[in-house]
Amino acid sequence: MKVKYKQKKSKQLFVKENVSPNQVYELAINKIYNMDCIEGMKQLSNNSIDLVITDPPFAIEFKAKRNNYNRTQSHVLEGYQEIPKEKYYEFTLQWMKEVYRILKESGSMYVFSGWNNLKDILNALDEIGFITVNHIIWKYQFGVVTQKKFVTSHYHCLYVCKNEHKRKFFPYARFSKCDKKDTGGSLHYEDKEDVWYIKREYWNGDQKTPTKLPAELIKKILLYSSEEGDVVLDPFLGSGQVAVVSKMFKRQYLGFEIVKEYYEFAKERLEKDIYRIKSNFKENIPQSLELFDVQEIK
Ligand SMILES: C[S@@+](CC[C@H](N)C(=O)[O-])C[C@H]1O[C@@H](n2cnc3c(N)ncnc32)[C@H](O)[C@@H]1O
Repeated sequence: MKVKYKQKKSKQLFVKENVSPNQVYELAINKIYNMDCIEGMKQLSNNSIDLVITDPPFAIEFKAKRNNYNRTQSHVLEGYQEIPKEKYYEFTLQWMKEVYRILKESGSMYVFSGWNNLKDILNALDEIGFITVNHIIWKYQFGVVTQKKFVTSHYHCLYVCKNEHKRKFFPYARFSKCDKKDTGGSLHYEDKEDVWYIKREYWNGDQKTPTKLPAELIKKILLYSSEEGDVVLDPFLGSGQVAVVSKMFKRQYLGFEIVKEYYEFAKERLEKDIYRIKSNFKENIPQSLELFDVQEIK
């Protein structure tokens, strides 16, 4: 099944009133930007974003081309931008402060984090004044095999908001009260538990960035916490997954990515409406796979 719809034309939207003219970037929705997200968000007006879904850098000296997760190294784009550990808390405070200012009262943010820097993320959320709604665990299918400790095979996702009374949430967006599993249990209940079993995606032979969130994870958040036409921001786009899946589900998108190669990769996916880009290394020609197909990402 192909999903077809018209994306709204991008229009100039967010320009803060008190910014001097030479500082103004013409930020528009349904666009992404190759820039530092803190600088980018400074250009956005207060209370203008409906939903933030983001997976900030980890500060664990992650090496983009390390052969972890059995990836074929040659297809992984280089340049992953890391933050030194000692600067991580200050960096986290800075970007989160901007998110707090630009998020609507009805809005929410979902922040992904490994366990290594979780305390910085949690402390920054509290210091800034976000209200924690849920602490979700994303359980994926495997981790890197270890000899002397247990294998990490989960990620944390902090679901937070500004105003608990105004926060949007659509409890029956995916399953009604009566939807049952084959075994008889409630699908609605299972989907609403705070441990999410969602597989990572393998893009064998396709171009990719070193880390990417599975589309199913983003889809779940979009359906529970936003409506068609809402503006979804990802300050740390990487491969552009949040923007691409938002577009697929008729949300408006906006995002920043500091690494040019990743930005260009995400931009190509968005502009051509393709989910995956095949790499043909023999002839060095990227082939576009038309995968704006919901079946494909389930
Ligand atoms: C963990 S990855 C995000 C992966 C993304 N969720 C995906 O599905 O592909 C974090 C990204 O943030 C980018 N980044 C790091 N610092 C940044 C900054 N100050 N502004 C914008 N992007 C930044 C990194 O280059 C990296 O691509």
